[in-house]
Amino acid sequence: MRLLYHSLAFYLTLHPTLTAAATSTTTTSTATHSASSTSHASASATVQACTIRSPNTHAFFDLNSLHIPDPASAKTKHPRPNSWNVSGYDLGYNFTVNFCGAVIEDLSDKGGVVGVEKNLWNDVGAYYEQGGKVYSLGQASSAPVFRGRKLVMNYTDGSPCGADAMKREHVIEDLGPREIIDPDKDKKKNKPSKGHEDDDDDEDDDRDGRKDEPKKGAALQRKSTIISFLCDKDPLAPLLTLSFIGASPDQCTYVFEARSSAGCSGIEVAKQTLSPSGVFGVIVGIAILVYIVGGCVYSRMVLHQRGWQQLPNYALWKGVFGFFKDLVIILTSSCTRFFPSRRGYTRVNGGLGGNSGGIGRNGRGRGDSDAENRLIDELNEEWDD
Ligand SMILES: *[C@@H]1O[C@H](CO)[C@@H](O)[C@H](O)[C@H]1NC(C)=O
Ligand SMILES: *[C@@H]1O[C@H](CO)[C@@H](O)[C@H](O)[C@H]1NC(C)=O
Ligand SMILES: *[C@@H]1O[C@H](CO)[C@@H](O)[C@H](O)[C@H]1NC(C)=O
Repeated sequence: MRLLYHSLAFYLTLHPTLTAAATSTTTTSTATHSASSTSHASASATVQACTIRSPNTHAFFDLNSLHIPDPASAKTKHPRPNSWNVSGYDLGYNFTVNFCGAVIEDLSDKGGVVGVEKNLWNDVGAYYEQGGKVYSLGQASSAPVFRGRKLVMNYTDGSPCGADAMKREHVIEDLGPREIIDPDKDKKKNKPSKGHEDDDDDEDDDRDGRKDEPKKGAALQRKSTIISFLCDKDPLAPLLTLSFIGASPDQCTYVFEARSSAGCSGIEVAKQTLSPSGVFGVIVGIAILVYIVGGCVYSRMVLHQRGWQQLPNYALWKGVFGFFKDLVIILTSSCTRFFPSRRGYTRVNGGLGGNSGGIGRNGRGRGDSDAENRLIDELNEEWDD
């Protein structure tokens, strides 16, 4: 075994190009591995963020091209300065949306998001502005889902909405008069709120019992967004045509339609930690290693060779090396044709095999002169006519 390692080390030092190739394959494979693992970090270990495989057709969908990166960290020269805009038409406000990540607008600059905790402001996936206030349509999501054949993305946990939003305003307006502890808390919790009075009382419960009942806070109704993706195969179409479809009457749910080439199934890239070429490289590298090590051991132990002779198929490789040496000589010497000629004469239509000797030269040269002769003969015949 020690001998094996010895000979391996010996021949790897003799072949720096080979070691370079081997290490480069391993480094590229580790590089791709680390790159993919960092990009996977936000999602689960196996699924890349913002991609999904259809459970029915097993087609692969990647929505990452719709993500507008933060201009501060974007790599492109002219990053988009704003997220996707969508007209809200009759609603009276326009929406700002991003995919596979938060909107790039700084929402704390705009005065913060109504009813959303401050540490979540950086992760809002869609919002609108109304009356100088920013309302979140939900936290950004990187997990598209399939409903049957439909590719859908949903954002949840936006600003409070519906009855809860009204309650909030009441809380702000008249907090004082309602500091009464409700005796039949539990009964009301199970009932949907019916009117004003109940709403207010419920909110009291919320505030009083928040510490002991964190679940109650989670039950607060919040705005959410559903984005339905359509495949647009037209290569001339813009990357994304986002349309606002509608909002529920309580303005708790907003529905959008995203028509995009990203909604078409595509080819999954870099799913594996090792790219196909990386796998190929590793296989080739291992094969070469096995060939050299095995060949060396065989030559040494069985054929009792020493020195360079230990290389497997030494004669063959020597021949190959000689061939390439000749090839280089031929190519370089044919290049010298383009420098000022030392012979004072160049061929009329000499090709590659120009001035100096080499393997392919004679045949080529003869072919050329044959062609010249034929051409001259033809011209002669034409003159005769
Ligand atoms: C989107 O909105 C921003 C400001 O919020 C504006 O500068 C930009 O022109 C809008 N883009 C479109 C396509 O409406
Ligand atoms: C919404 O966007 C449209 C253009 O798409 C613009 O004409 C309109 O003024 C915008 N509305 C608001 C409230 O910003
Ligand atoms: C939204 O997506 C989450 C997963 O991200 C899922 O649990 C939830 O059921 C979805 N809600 C709707 C209304 O589609």
